[in-house]
Amino acid sequence: MRIGNNVKLGVNIDHIATLRQARHDIDPDPVAAAQVAKQAGADMIVTHLRQDRRHIQDADLAKLCELKGETHLEIADIPEMLAIALKCKPGSVCIVPERRQEVTTEGGLNLSAGASKSIAKSVERLKKAGIEVSLFIDPEAAAVRAAKGLGADTVELCTTSYSEAKGKAKAKAELERLELAGYLAYELGLNLHAGHGLDYHNVRPVAGIPHLSALNIGFSIIARSVFVGLKSAVAEMRQLVS
Ligand code: PXP
Repeated sequence: MRIGNNVKLGVNIDHIATLRQARHDIDPDPVAAAQVAKQAGADMIVTHLRQDRRHIQDADLAKLCELKGETHLEIADIPEMLAIALKCKPGSVCIVPERRQEVTTEGGLNLSAGASKSIAKSVERLKKAGIEVSLFIDPEAAAVRAAKGLGADTVELCTTSYSEAKGKAKAKAELERLELAGYLAYELGLNLHAGHGLDYHNVRPVAGIPHLSALNIGFSIIARSVFVGLKSAVAEMRQLVS
């Protein structure tokens, strides 16, 4: 296992807003959470503006994009979200698939020829606006190649199958799948990110994937922060990822 890639930690603060929206109140404030996460070692603040606005709201995003440091916005490839991204100008955008009924993102984008025409246009418009573009994909060679063909700067490999793997052998096989896709991304000149479902127990092998430059982690950090505080929860993850 290779650890020590100087992997950046992107902390997704959506679920701070989930808690606030439970009462439609003003606390806890995801913007304040972003500042605490940065102080505790987060390199990027990650947020997903969903079509149903179940957690992060437009006003949160506008404030997050004004903060110093990188804000990484996850969006569905739809005109409404593209317009918001172009207006707020986060440092980077990751295009993700989104189904309204899903509890969380369910897997990588469908980048088959027919499905990806609109994504190609969105990538072009975002890049023209100076925004770095990432595509959330399954760890498959075809998807990595398609992302490159669509002009992405970065691929974020979906780690759900690894995170949900039952037993060591299955987890090892899923890790190898991530590594192989990572090698290909590197060969093609793409930045390599990974994330989804990562926690304090399963993150280290993923942090050791060769050429990985960033991990995006949300739920496990926010869940742990309920017991130890956000600063400690981020700092603990920062240590595991370094
Ligand atoms: N990466 C992407 C593309 C995501 O959609 C999410 C969830 O918003 C994450 C990473 C973080 O996943 P988790 O909350 O399970 O750590």
